[in-house]
Amino acid sequence: MQQIKEQLVEALKSATTAEQVERIRVDFLGRKGSITLLAKNVDFSKLTAEEKKGFGQKLNELKGFATDAIAAASAALASTATRKKSNDLDLTAPGKGRRLGALHPITLAQMELEDVFQGMGFTVVYGPEVESEYFCFEAVNIPHDHPARDMQDTFWLKNQLVMRTHTSAQQVRALKRFGAPFRGVFPGRCFRFESIDPSHENTFYQCEGLYVDKGVSVANLIAVMRTILSQTFKRDVKVRLRPGYFPFVEPGFELDLNCLICGGKGCATCKNSGWIELIPCGLVHPEVLRQGGIDPKEYSGFAFGVGLTRLAMMKYGIRDIRYLNCGDLRVNEQFSTIM
Ligand code: DAH
Repeated sequence: MQQIKEQLVEALKSATTAEQVERIRVDFLGRKGSITLLAKNVDFSKLTAEEKKGFGQKLNELKGFATDAIAAASAALASTATRKKSNDLDLTAPGKGRRLGALHPITLAQMELEDVFQGMGFTVVYGPEVESEYFCFEAVNIPHDHPARDMQDTFWLKNQLVMRTHTSAQQVRALKRFGAPFRGVFPGRCFRFESIDPSHENTFYQCEGLYVDKGVSVANLIAVMRTILSQTFKRDVKVRLRPGYFPFVEPGFELDLNCLICGGKGCATCKNSGWIELIPCGLVHPEVLRQGGIDPKEYSGFAFGVGLTRLAMMKYGIRDIRYLNCGDLRVNEQFSTIM
């Protein structure tokens, strides 16, 4: 046994490849290996019980030693192999690019809009995406039979909860919480049960605005809107109001932006009209003020709903709304990187 052990140690010392180590394993521990044959070649009938036991123990020790030594030798070879490999530095290999995080175009548009509004003294308030039927509809004067409540438009949840269909749901929440006078904007994600196409999404962003004070008029509304849009698009803009109907404002308007592409002469973007329909707005309906605990005889106000998704698309020239929610990082990477 001692002789076999020495042979094994010698053999392992001179082995330089994994194949050689494997050969050694077969030579010593394989079916016909020298250690395996040791047991087969002994005539046990000639041994006493004591001798059998001693032989068995020694044989087991030898097997254990051989197994460990072989495993150690092959581990040592493997690690030199990897070390060798990593030393093979290929200076011509192209580098691995590092992908930096980037902000989503809607996040960018939202951050910029919040900045502009904050500069004019508006508070930014965030509200729940899962909203009560009351704040989403009744509080803003949308009666039970109004089409906006239709099953087609609204994701209804249990217990008279809905996925908010617009950020106007924040109006009465804010009035109840902050009282009057109040200036605030409510950016956030909204949901509607819509089929998706290049210009429709079931998940989109709005930024609602609310301004309540004594003696607020349409003139104030126009002035604020013009300032906001000039700052957002970084140039002087012209706007106009057309009548529009929304249950929570009276009178209600559609605010159009003089086309930034053609300057009002008419082009494909504005469908040759010179104007782009941009922001629905109006003077806050007395009923909405009342729901917010504000006396409409004392206070008046204006409200507006900026389509944040639409604004981002216009600002960044994104033609298909579906890019925005597709989750493909290549979309984000085109707009900004976080420093
Ligand atoms: N909440 C409306 C919508 O989602 C948008 C809107 C219209 C908001 C008129 C307003 C407003 O504040 O005055 O379609």
